[in-house]
Amino acid sequence: MTKGYTVLGPEIVSDLHDPVRDFAYDALVGLSERPKRLSSKYFYDDAGSRYFQRIMSLEDYYPTACEREILTERAHEIISPMLGRGPFNLVDLGAGDGAKTKILLDALRAAKAEFTYVPIDISEGAMRTLVEAVRVEQPDTRVSGLVCEYVEGAHYLGRAFADRSNLVLFLGSNIGNFNRVQARAFLRRLWSSLRKGDCVLIGFDLKKDIEVLLRAYNDSEGVTAAFNLNLLTRMNRELGADFDVTKFRHYGTYSVFSGAMESYLVSLEPQVVRIDALEQSFSFDAWEPLHTEYSYKYLRADIDRMAADTGFSVIRQFEDSRGWFASSLWRVEIETKVPSPLK
Ligand code: AVJ
Repeated sequence: MTKGYTVLGPEIVSDLHDPVRDFAYDALVGLSERPKRLSSKYFYDDAGSRYFQRIMSLEDYYPTACEREILTERAHEIISPMLGRGPFNLVDLGAGDGAKTKILLDALRAAKAEFTYVPIDISEGAMRTLVEAVRVEQPDTRVSGLVCEYVEGAHYLGRAFADRSNLVLFLGSNIGNFNRVQARAFLRRLWSSLRKGDCVLIGFDLKKDIEVLLRAYNDSEGVTAAFNLNLLTRMNRELGADFDVTKFRHYGTYSVFSGAMESYLVSLEPQVVRIDALEQSFSFDAWEPLHTEYSYKYLRADIDRMAADTGFSVIRQFEDSRGWFASSLWRVEIETKVPSPLK
């Protein structure tokens, strides 16, 4: 197995993979498929991470406000299982700009907890900004950032911090990008790199009025559209493609069948796109879709079952006042219903 990260210094650990090669490979596979597809993880180059930060401040995009409400009102209840147990890691999977995590960092400092903050993110730009901000705003907080994907981050935890307990944050309904099978596999793997008594806080976006969902993923200011179209710009820059972004439109739709918001880029006319890095051209029919994202929505019972199936017990589940979002606090149990092939 390749080591997916390297230690650059005490504060930031960065990726060792050849990211452009991975991107080229996934583009080749995805664009050769019918319907065409590309993983939403490629949204998050530095420009895409900035678009997503703008999305989080939009009125239409409710999940951020919901989760912030929960973290603000329940910070103490969330951190309390970790207090009085000695030093621990606060691991932040997909930390982004860390804005919501800062609410918990404040609560931990107020409680005089001894911990190291371990943000993990795929965007090196976002990671540098975040680590720098924490150093300036909270100079007494120990920070150790990782630039890698979640799965590699979970792997790294199991090795590098084997002697410490952990509170792992998986905020923002990032888990929604996984389908149910992938989410189970990921959580089971996370479980296997943690220790009994470790906790995880996972943000789940709940099923709700479909109009609310559609507005959140088709915002009136067009930021989500720009975020989605940025994938094409990224292929142009990194893979030497010649996508004309004006010949595609963003389309976000809810599927009651899959239980997910699904995002597409739809070709507005017949066209051929050259991708130099693949030494190949790809043709699009008029109205042909390129699938770019799933964002799965959960029922409360789905969350309970997911915890039980992956080796965790639900300590408590917090919801915002509208009942749109759930922050579920789980604990690692050693006795599990399902034997782990990954351990
Ligand atoms: C970062 C995956 C949680 O699915 O809501 C926002 C990404 N996509 N608007 C989500 C996203 C379109 C977001 N996550």
